[in-house]
Amino acid sequence: MRPLKGEVLVSHADDHAGTRRDFLYYATAGAGVVATGAAVWPLVNQMNPSADTRALASIMVDVSGVEAGTQITVKWRGKPVFIRRRTPDDIEKGRAVALSDLVDTNAENANLDSAATAEDKNRTLDEAGEWLVMMGVCTHLGCVPLGDAGDFDGWFCPCHGSHYDMAGRIRKGPAPRNLPVPVAKFENETTIKLG
Ligand code: FES
Repeated sequence: MRPLKGEVLVSHADDHAGTRRDFLYYATAGAGVVATGAAVWPLVNQMNPSADTRALASIMVDVSGVEAGTQITVKWRGKPVFIRRRTPDDIEKGRAVALSDLVDTNAENANLDSAATAEDKNRTLDEAGEWLVMMGVCTHLGCVPLGDAGDFDGWFCPCHGSHYDMAGRIRKGPAPRNLPVPVAKFENETTIKLG
């Protein structure tokens, strides 16, 4: 909307600048008269994500075109996420692995209790075990593992030789943990919501 004569149109950028100035003022004024703990709140409050940022925290992914035996990689919060549609053979192999054969026996699944163990069924998004959603970031030093590779029919990280199985569980190499499963769910039959 065009401002009327003599009227000042205040933009969001001005608002943000004002907020920053206010914060600096309060932080400076508070330093001399209040305990350190009391001055922390404005800083924490300042660091809370804005509504815009929170909206970006979730994304919808259309998986209608993903064939069994293939995967797509999407970028979410600046990192790759693997979405794999597993074959019946993948599911059978994944479910045949005993917990005692695993390096990391925690499910590393943000959708489950933190104590959940790494059986194949605790790694997938659906009960049938067809859909696997994981961060595509090696738990050793953060490289992106390659799909359909390695000694366990899953992913292989070429940086230092970590092998993950068809459920994204670390089986060999220096990586200490299974590839993490982020917060995710089916929004409808063909859409996965991340975050
Ligand atoms: S970063 Fe993957 S094995 Fe080192």
